[in-house]
Amino acid sequence: MRLTVQDLQEMKARAEKIPMLTAYDYVSAKLLEKAGIRLMLVGDSLGQWMLGYDNTVPVTMDEMVLHVRSVVRGTERSHVVADMPFLSYQVNADEALRNSGRMLGEGGAQSVKLEGGRRTAATVRRICETGVPVMGHIGLTPQSINQIGRPRVQGDSTEAANGLIEDAVALEQAGAYSIVLESVPARLAKLITERLSIPTIGIGAGAHCDGQVQVYHDVLGLLTVGLHTDHIPRHVRRYADLGETITSAVSDYTNDVREGRFPSEKESFKIKRDVLDEITGQSAKPV
Ligand code: KIV
Repeated sequence: MRLTVQDLQEMKARAEKIPMLTAYDYVSAKLLEKAGIRLMLVGDSLGQWMLGYDNTVPVTMDEMVLHVRSVVRGTERSHVVADMPFLSYQVNADEALRNSGRMLGEGGAQSVKLEGGRRTAATVRRICETGVPVMGHIGLTPQSINQIGRPRVQGDSTEAANGLIEDAVALEQAGAYSIVLESVPARLAKLITERLSIPTIGIGAGAHCDGQVQVYHDVLGLLTVGLHTDHIPRHVRRYADLGETITSAVSDYTNDVREGRFPSEKESFKIKRDVLDEITGQSAKPV
């Protein structure tokens, strides 16, 4: 049985923390579930981590659905949240309903996530009314990166902080079952978390949120080239250095092939003696 939005509600009521990670493919989803993660986000951050884009803006619905399906196939007990990509929900309500429906119908996800607070609340309400659970996302909203300029903490003035509180309340009233708070000062995230009856999930929002989400590649140190090498965001804690592990394993393999150490006899298949004799024309010879 997959984790439900009601389960998440109950976890908040019990003050039980909610661990969440991004997952973009079948194998990582299987590994996460095996390790005890029951809430997974197929984030549009897959644009950078899987597809090599500069940011999340170019990610399409088709790309998202493909990854959502592979994560859903890799899980049995997890709640899979599908991120709605840029322009899949902002143009009009009809498109938002159709696209959120695709995430559940074609993708097999259990809910969708949309960026934006008050500006998105009416759309969130419409989607919820169709029976699709919605997770909100406020604070730093990466799809607006061209407007924001560069990733930075949000809600750091009185006006901006009040704006974020209003965003959170608007989303809850619109029917969202949970809200991601990204790059928000910890005390402000605490205030929002206490104000809401739905769980908050923080990323760079301090320890008082009901849950935490991080990017798989960040916590596992999966890229030693490219993203997050010169600047690891303050909110990231690396639990492994898989980038180094992979580079060193592949380098060992490369050297073994070059030097003739791979494959060995143990890693090769044997042919039957009589077949070998026949094909080499030596069948008359005694074995
Ligand atoms: O796409 C993503 O990975 C996200 C998280 C940063 C919350 O939206």
